[in-house]
Amino acid sequence: MLDLTTRHCRYLYRLMSCEVLLYSEMVATGAIIFGDSKRVLDFDACEHPLALQLAGAIPDELAQCAKIGAEYDYDEINLNVGCPSSRVQAGGFGACLLLNPDLVVDGVAAMRAATDRPVTVKTRLGIRGETDFADLCRLTERLVEVGCQKLIVHAREAKLQGMSPRQNRSSLPLAYDHVYDLKAKFPQLPIVINGEIVSYEAIAEHLQYVDGVMLGRSVYRNPYLLAEIDQRFYGSKTKVKSREQIAEEYMAYVTGLGVDAKKRNILLKPLLGLYKGVAGASSWRKALALGSLPEQET
Ligand SMILES: Cc1cc2nc3c(=O)[nH]c(=O)nc-3n(C[C@H](O)[C@H](O)[C@H](O)COP(=O)(O)O)c2cc1C
Repeated sequence: MLDLTTRHCRYLYRLMSCEVLLYSEMVATGAIIFGDSKRVLDFDACEHPLALQLAGAIPDELAQCAKIGAEYDYDEINLNVGCPSSRVQAGGFGACLLLNPDLVVDGVAAMRAATDRPVTVKTRLGIRGETDFADLCRLTERLVEVGCQKLIVHAREAKLQGMSPRQNRSSLPLAYDHVYDLKAKFPQLPIVINGEIVSYEAIAEHLQYVDGVMLGRSVYRNPYLLAEIDQRFYGSKTKVKSREQIAEEYMAYVTGLGVDAKKRNILLKPLLGLYKGVAGASSWRKALALGSLPEQET
């Protein structure tokens, strides 16, 4: 998630789960090709398995970035076809690509030709209302033909006009059934469902119908949700870490980076929700916000 799941945030998540596939923030192809690619792509080896999410629309540029992403050793290259923000629309990519499915298909084909890493797509249910499901099925069929290896579906449509990104993530109704129906139509294609999935019980329920579950805000707001995922869903026998252990390990990591106090406070932000739902959570958030937590030994 843009500006949230930075490499540091992902380091925190890895302290809790060795198994989950993590995704980068959405990275515009222009930032890789014309910008400081090392700054936007570099990551810690512990973040594996890690997918790079690209935002772009020009097949040659997507191909170039998929190749560079593979050179950086990302485990999957994903194309964003779901972000409806006006800034992203102005770039001609994200959800507005659903207006031009040929470009999505050509982009994925070009990415596939450029890398041997799995190429995947994250999308919405649609942008038009009534014809969304039929459109999504047609697009999925074409994506499978050009070698898309997984589809992640945020289970609501997007509105390209008249809604803020926040409204676009919350005001429109979720339609999980449509994602289940898509899976039933494309049994060979791994399908991952996304949208307001906030508990282990909900994850287990969705997994009866689809192959995977993507968690966004629930994990950012309550990172400790990741602490039992390996044991509950991947058969891991390792001991679940306590919140205190995770906080200590992460703060030691931040201290080890040797940054100034201002940057340190930014890097501690992913810890804000660590005690969500637990007594004392607000004192924890205050201590983090005031920068009054002690430095850790590295
Ligand atoms: C601040 C913020 C930034 C986001 N950035 C991205 C992004 O870069 N790429 C993406 O595919 N989705 C992005 N999303 C959308 C989420 O990945 C997810 O699809 C959406 O929030 C619904 O899932 P959730 O209810 O589990 O959060 C972002 C969401 C938020 C709140």
